[in-house]
Amino acid sequence: MVGISKRSRSDRRRRRPGIRHGLLPGQRRADRRLTIDVEVDPDEELGDGRRSISWAARKLGPKGRFLIVAMLIGAVITLISLSFDQYTASSSSYADPKNEAQVSHGKSLYTANCAFCHGDDLGGKEGWDRDYPKGGRPALPLNGSGALWRLADHDIYDVIKFGGQPFSPINYRNDMPGFELQLAAADLWALVAYVKSTWSPEMIERQKEAVARQEQG
Ligand code: HEC
Repeated sequence: MVGISKRSRSDRRRRRPGIRHGLLPGQRRADRRLTIDVEVDPDEELGDGRRSISWAARKLGPKGRFLIVAMLIGAVITLISLSFDQYTASSSSYADPKNEAQVSHGKSLYTANCAFCHGDDLGGKEGWDRDYPKGGRPALPLNGSGALWRLADHDIYDVIKFGGQPFSPINYRNDMPGFELQLAAADLWALVAYVKSTWSPEMIERQKEAVARQEQG
């Protein structure tokens, strides 16, 4: 039992005679009776931090403890999903050949899904530059040696997503398969980023000019 009473100010006043400090005769100062009971904690030997944690845990009870743990787990999940959303938002709406994380993601996808036809060096299959009026053209180069610069990023994206056939003349057989079912938007943009990371600055510039011409009509 520890008694705490406020003293200093009222003591100083009491020393001045003849001043009642607003108290009625016989009335006692409330603060003189202000005592706080403090139970001596059984965990006294524990460190300050642990003592207050165990005090808080006892105070909360099982339901309160459950609530606190649930809130902590909720906060962690929220933080993880927020940062994941940020990652996908920054990489799912456009291709950035200078974004190393996006490019390396695209590179591993390329090795797994595309290198078989387009070659490890993105150079395409032998004979791609011959004439194929009815289609059946071998895989085209995707690096600077081809003419991929004529397509805007979102057109390259669409060819990978839907395959080449929807963008070809009716009588032409386009052997580029679509990856709509295998790859998510972020994956497709990562592939575009990786493909463009193999282009020279001149090729990037050429694509920009081609896209500007298309937009003018
Ligand atoms: C089964 C073989 C095959 C696979 C696998 C394949 N492609 Fe193709 N791709 C082709 C062929 C063939 C063409 C050319 C079609 C044509 O023009 O007749 C092509 C064309 C393309 C084009 C258009 C090139 C241009 O200049 O018009 C892009 C872009 C492309 N592929 C990207 C990819 C990516 C990225 C992957 C992996 C996700 C991939 N391809 C997987 C065979 C393949």
